[in-house]
Amino acid sequence: MEPARRVDGDVTAPADKSISHRALIIGALTGGRSYIGNLSSSDDVAATARCLDACGVWLRPFGGGRMSVEGSGPGRSLSAPGGALDCANSGTTMRLLAGALAAHDLEAVLDGDASLRRRPMRRVADPLTAMGAQVRTQAGGTPPLHVKGSRALRGITWRPEVASAQVKSAVLLAGLAADGPTTVAEPAPTRDHTERLLRHCGVDVQRSGDDVVLQPGTPAPFGIRIPGDASAAAFFAGLAAARTGWRVGCRDVGLNPTRTGFLDALRAMGARVELQADPTDEWEPRGELEVHGGRLHATTVAGELSVRCIDELPLLAVVATQAEGVTEIRDAGELRTKESDRISVLAQGLRALGAECDTFADGMAVRGPARLRGARVDSGGDHRLAMAFAVAGALASDGATTITGADSVGVSFPVFFDELRRVCA
Ligand code: S3P
Repeated sequence: MEPARRVDGDVTAPADKSISHRALIIGALTGGRSYIGNLSSSDDVAATARCLDACGVWLRPFGGGRMSVEGSGPGRSLSAPGGALDCANSGTTMRLLAGALAAHDLEAVLDGDASLRRRPMRRVADPLTAMGAQVRTQAGGTPPLHVKGSRALRGITWRPEVASAQVKSAVLLAGLAADGPTTVAEPAPTRDHTERLLRHCGVDVQRSGDDVVLQPGTPAPFGIRIPGDASAAAFFAGLAAARTGWRVGCRDVGLNPTRTGFLDALRAMGARVELQADPTDEWEPRGELEVHGGRLHATTVAGELSVRCIDELPLLAVVATQAEGVTEIRDAGELRTKESDRISVLAQGLRALGAECDTFADGMAVRGPARLRGARVDSGGDHRLAMAFAVAGALASDGATTITGADSVGVSFPVFFDELRRVCA
């Protein structure tokens, strides 16, 4: 990646990955045939589609990101796969599918790549077991995950120790076929795509304070068009924000408030962020985004805001290298359990690029403004770090940046580098 002299342009964000996983899995649990437009073409979502196919689900792509999927209701849609389900690099695939499988009378093994095999799974095994399924991890709480499902799950109240949309979603998906209501009491509000799509399908799921309460039921088949991914658009928003005179626009991007914490942080740092919501879409907020850069100053991201931009925090640290003062990221220990230990891999890369930062168990501090210089950095095979380092390379004052493991961008944003080259002069 070469330093950018100027950034100005409009980008197309790829389809939202989180929503795409849910569209496929919830589609498979409805009582009929659903139609999905603009399904993500990422490797992660392909893994979910492959796993559902291995469980006997009828799925038909019909070009241009369109897919139809058919279900026969929770507890009846999935059948025992012939071998281990390969969730590849995708934690969302493994955790959400574990929840869906738990309500079926079958046994399945969920496995993944070396990165996924290091990630914590007791957080889904425990609640699903409390509901009456038998879900076992390896000794360290990691995959492969063995699921022995049951058609007689109990509705429970679960209080996860960490704020996790994946855990919440796994429990809610299992709860569709339970004998009574299921409640997830979240420590902080996480992305609500599962609740929104289920509600769109007629399922009774309500939020009351920190509690999400779902009544069992069969989701009705749906027809939806998935918005652009706010987490993917964020890379361009963060890049444009860092310099006065730079600008990026993005249309038809998801503007769900549980996902826009990064834009709030950019605003707090002094960038001009304009959102134009599309008033016609009530299922998932979406609209247009335009970001104009400015002289940035440091900010603190902690508590609920950290949860609302958990996937954008590495990028925020990169942007913070260009802001005056010390930016602190706190309450983000979850970053250590993502596709890599994002706190330590990020800190190593930032230092190689000439930035000054300190790490904590739950976050990091970045001192700016720093004059970044191109360097060789290792993404640890983590897609979001590869893209964050590419943004840092574009913000460098001189020298090319070489990112090892950059192929990983296919996990969420296969054409990221093409789009980046397009907006950078
Ligand atoms: C996701 C939830 C988040 C996020 C991940 C996708 C989802 O993980 O980091 O990239 O689609 O539900 P956690 O829920 O484990 O925090």
